[in-house]
Amino acid sequence: MHAISPTDARPDLAARSDQLLAQFTTMRALTARLAAPLSAEDAMVQSMDDASPAKWHLAHTTWFFERFILATDARYRAFDPTWDYLFNSYYNSVGPMHARPRRGVLSRPSLEQVRAYRAAVEDALCERLQRHALHAQALDILQLGIQHEQQHQELLLTDIRHALWSNPLQPAYRGDLVATHAGPSALRWIARDEQIVQLGADAWPQVQAFAYDNESPRHRTLVGAHALASRPVSNAEFAAFVEAGGYREPAHWLSDGWAAVRARDWQRPLYWHEDGAREFTLGGWRERDPDAPASGLSLFEADAFARWAGARLPTEAEWELAAAGVPMDGNFVEDDALHPRSSAAAETGFEKLFGDVWEWTGSAYLPYPGFAPWPGSLGEYNGKFMNAQWVLRGGSCATSRTHIRATYRNFFPSDARWQFAGVRLAKDLP
Ligand SMILES: [Fe+2]
Repeated sequence: MHAISPTDARPDLAARSDQLLAQFTTMRALTARLAAPLSAEDAMVQSMDDASPAKWHLAHTTWFFERFILATDARYRAFDPTWDYLFNSYYNSVGPMHARPRRGVLSRPSLEQVRAYRAAVEDALCERLQRHALHAQALDILQLGIQHEQQHQELLLTDIRHALWSNPLQPAYRGDLVATHAGPSALRWIARDEQIVQLGADAWPQVQAFAYDNESPRHRTLVGAHALASRPVSNAEFAAFVEAGGYREPAHWLSDGWAAVRARDWQRPLYWHEDGAREFTLGGWRERDPDAPASGLSLFEADAFARWAGARLPTEAEWELAAAGVPMDGNFVEDDALHPRSSAAAETGFEKLFGDVWEWTGSAYLPYPGFAPWPGSLGEYNGKFMNAQWVLRGGSCATSRTHIRATYRNFFPSDARWQFAGVRLAKDLP
């Protein structure tokens, strides 16, 4: 964040307050809607170390606004000062925190208390925004907090899907979700010559357009001649890999990937049924749409499939070059399908770069040349995770349309399988 300066009294502050107030209330209403189908028992489950209970997501996103905006005013009284420890995720510079794998023991505070916490912090923020009482730096953090909660909305969905799948009854999160089928789309290869491209975004908040610090600085990079698939790999294509014994042939796999296959008995994507036909969705068990993008893949599985198919994963530079200028008209959380779906085939150009499934890239999650984390505690947001993770691009059916952009860098470790993550193939060209 930039330092507070006299220019903070600029006249557009009121307009920006009003705009952020609208964005904030819309975003918070979506969180409430996503959590509405969950009982207090559902909202407390933590089915694995990597996933968090829905109640924790609801509280932590609220804590972010309270801790980084409201609590910077010495007159503000914390909703409950003991909760700082519970709902701090990983900000060591703010103070100690409850261990992430133990979030499922938090039977108190109750879901009802967490909802009251959300309402109190919302009221306090809305009141300040209506009075135009927040200075420019606080508005920057509010904008960041909106983006932060959108990330947690997606995690709330992917984590509850895992929690419900882990329950032997395997109930649906929502019984009213509708599956659609639009038919196949022939795979085309779209070629690009070798070129120097501009990658990344200019640093926010120095520029108005929001981007995380990990997307900056914008810089030049060399991209070799290559071709990218017009669309992500489909369920039918991934099923062919499974049926061809892809999970039994070590030659397709990275060494650690093969170790994971053996140690964890991977035989198919995480949510695929052994009957070969169904998959577990937020709407419960469903027939797999053969033409929808395959999802629930780890980097290891995406990479093994690509090798089997005689291709490779795209680099993030190749992906971003493809996505520049492409309209973001994909299947997002606002579409309320909450699952990747097939759609009418295009005759030219790329399909599904945005929405449906995150696309694993073969690029390690590393700082761009000249990267500088945001100053202060929020510098812990992204930079310290640039270790042993891979970049994913494009957003998914659980991502907000207002959250994604061509320069966006998501990241997960190689063995993460519970996200809406798929794969688009790439090839070198001579
Ligand atoms: Fe967070």
